[in-house]
Amino acid sequence: MLTNRQLFLLHLGQTSSAPLMLEIEKAEGVFMYGPGGRKYLDLVSGVSVSNTGHRHPRVVEAVKNQVDSYLHLMVYGEMIQSPQVKYAAKLASILPEKLSSIYFVNSGSEAVEGALKLAKRFTGRSRIIYFSNAYHGSTNAALSVQGSEIYRNAFRPLMPGTVQIGFNDFGALDAIDDKTACVIIEPIQAEAGVLLPEKGYLELIRERCSRHGALLIFDEVQTGFGRTGKMFAIDRYGVVPDILVLAKALGGGMPLGAFISSGEIMSSLISNPRLGHITTFGGHPVCCAAGLASLEVIIDEKLSESCESKSAVFKKELIHPAIKSIRGEGLLLAVQLRSHEHVGKVIASAPVHGLVLDYFLFCNDAFRIAPPLIISDDEIKYACRQLLLLLDDTE
Ligand SMILES: Cc1ncc(COP(=O)(O)O)c(C=O)c1O
Repeated sequence: MLTNRQLFLLHLGQTSSAPLMLEIEKAEGVFMYGPGGRKYLDLVSGVSVSNTGHRHPRVVEAVKNQVDSYLHLMVYGEMIQSPQVKYAAKLASILPEKLSSIYFVNSGSEAVEGALKLAKRFTGRSRIIYFSNAYHGSTNAALSVQGSEIYRNAFRPLMPGTVQIGFNDFGALDAIDDKTACVIIEPIQAEAGVLLPEKGYLELIRERCSRHGALLIFDEVQTGFGRTGKMFAIDRYGVVPDILVLAKALGGGMPLGAFISSGEIMSSLISNPRLGHITTFGGHPVCCAAGLASLEVIIDEKLSESCESKSAVFKKELIHPAIKSIRGEGLLLAVQLRSHEHVGKVIASAPVHGLVLDYFLFCNDAFRIAPPLIISDDEIKYACRQLLLLLDDTE
C-alpha cells in the first residue's frame, strides 16, 4: 500500500517542485501535530487565515450547529440564510458606514474578480490601476493586476486596460484620470514582503480617486481581522475605500471571500445585465457560521489590540547576526536575511526545530512570521529560541 506521502506526489496536482510535505493529523490552537504526535508551532496561520488559531472551540461549535441545520441550499443571493444575514450585519456594524453591502464569494481571487467587475460596471469605465509587487490572487483578472511579471507572463493575453505603477511612488498617481474605473491596492503589501504605505500615500490615492470618479478598492485579504494590530488597515490609516475585498481569516478556517461596498454601488449588479455576478457556493452557510464565530472571538478576546505587544516580543527576542531587519505591523512580519539561499534553508529546516515557516511570493530574502493572533508571549519566546537555533544551524 502506498503511503500518504507517495499518494500526495502521485495524485495531487503539483505546482511546486519543492512542497513543504509536512503530514498533519491534527491541529489545535497554535500547534499542528504530525504522525506520532510530532508537534509544530504554526508561524504562518495557513497564510493569515487561522487568526483565532486552529479549531477554536467557538468556531467548531458554530460549524457543528450549522451542519445540524443545513448545508448548501441554493446559489448565492436567492434564499434568506441566517448565517449569511447575521455575518453580513456584523461586518457592516464594524466597518465604516458606506461599506454596508456584503457580497459573499468563495475565495480572495473571486472577491477580487467581483470587485473589479463591480468597479467597471458602476463607472462604465475599464482602465484599472494596480501596483508593483501587488498580489491579488491567481485567476485571470487577479493575474492581470499582479505586480510581478515572473508569475503572469506565461498566461498572456491577460485583461486589457490595466496600468501598473510603483508602490509608494507619489508622482505616478497622475495615472489616475477620468478614464480610470478603479485603483486596486493592498494598503499594506503582504507578498511583497510586508511593505507599508508611506505617510500620506493612501490619503493621496483616495483624494485622486474621488476627484476623478474612480473607485478605490482595498484588498485586505491578508491585513484584515486584526492581523496588523487593528481590525482592518482602514482603521490604521483612516482611509475608507469604495470597495473592500476580504477573504482568508474571514471564514475562521473555512473557505470564504467577500467584496463589500455601499448599497448604491452594489446595486449596479442587479440590472443590465441582471445577475452581474453569480456564485454557487459563495457565502456557504457553514463558512459564514464559522466566520462569524471567529470574528466574535477576535472582538471578545481583543486579539487585534494585543497584536502590537506580541509583535514587540518577536522584535525584541529575534536578535541574531544573520537577521538584517524585521519589517511589518502587528503579527504580519518579514524577517530579512542576507540571501535567498539562507531563507530557503531556514524554511526547509524549520520543522526539524518544531516550527512552520513560509516564503513570500515576491520577496526572496525574507521569511514570513504570521502566527495565529492567540499566540501567547511564552509561545512567542519559545518560537524565538527555536528560530535562533535554526539560524545558528543554517548559517
Ligand atoms: C492580498 C491578497 N489578495 C488576494 C489573495 C487571493 O486569495 P485566494 O488565495 O483566497 O484566492 C491573496 C492570497 O494570498 C492575497 O494575499
